[in-house]
Amino acid sequence: MLIENEALRNYWYVVAESTDISDAPLAVRLLGDSYVVWRSPSGDAVAAPDRCPHREIPLSEGTVEDGCLVCPYHGWKFADEGRCVEVPSSGVGRPVPPAAHLPTVSMQEKYGLIWLCPGDPVADIPLMPAEDDDAYRRINSGVDVWNTSATRMTDNFMDISHFPYVHVGTFGIPDLQNVPQINLEQLDDDYFGYAYEVEVGNSQGSTASGQEGEIVHRRMSTGFNLPFTVRSTIQYETGLEHLILLCSTPRDDLTSYFTFVIWRNDDFSVPGEEIIAFDRAIGAEDKAMLEKVPGVLPLDQKATVSVQSDKPSVEWRRRLAALLD
Ligand code: FES
Ligand SMILES: [Fe+2]
Repeated sequence: MLIENEALRNYWYVVAESTDISDAPLAVRLLGDSYVVWRSPSGDAVAAPDRCPHREIPLSEGTVEDGCLVCPYHGWKFADEGRCVEVPSSGVGRPVPPAAHLPTVSMQEKYGLIWLCPGDPVADIPLMPAEDDDAYRRINSGVDVWNTSATRMTDNFMDISHFPYVHVGTFGIPDLQNVPQINLEQLDDDYFGYAYEVEVGNSQGSTASGQEGEIVHRRMSTGFNLPFTVRSTIQYETGLEHLILLCSTPRDDLTSYFTFVIWRNDDFSVPGEEIIAFDRAIGAEDKAMLEKVPGVLPLDQKATVSVQSDKPSVEWRRRLAALLD
């Protein structure tokens, strides 16, 4: 099983959006394990295995009271950093056993997302400089579950040759099937991939592209950050930029979280939800196709046939296999 590979544990994965962590504990899955996430009294989100150290009730079945996670079985309370601060049966204020504290996992909130790393992080969350640039706004999309492996998702997000087939309902142009020569390069510190220029259908009109006309020209780049993050950048001739971070998280081998985040230097006049409706529709097209394929993507390149247009995903797969080795 892919998710049993220890190396995968040392990277950051999106399991929720910050806004998902409100006044109730949230149950999430990552690499085959269950975690509970809640916002503790300090305001920091905390993530821990979804298991009460007392009798193993999933703590996500409990409640949050004044920031403390409360187990529904015997009422033990957990505060900042997962510290057990109360065992009601022992009497309020009495010391608690040291083993009652929760073994928390590394957590960061960035880009409106909750990122977990169950092991020892060996890399940072990939950088999106637009986050700190006032010319851009960020639009979050919510977290979905896709019934497919994160490997198939990343492979798909690195691929452009499916556009005229899978995406004819959104931006794909049926006649543009030929993929020009792809030159792979280090796009910047965090992403490896390729830059290219395309003509795309403008079905969403100026809401997406800031311009009218049936077909618009885009300068684009697509790059990956191991293991499963992909960034796509779109630049229109008007100077409008639309940056997309695509995050795929293995819940287990065959189901994944998917979320995307947009940064955009438009005039902020169109509501975010209208802007991302188009990207949502594109994602739904990919999801529908990938959910037809059983199993994980084989990392052995000989198990599938690849052609010139698959160069980016072949390189991503090669590097992923090396990371896992
Ligand atoms: S099982 Fe959680 S307090 Fe007993
Ligand atoms: Fe796609």
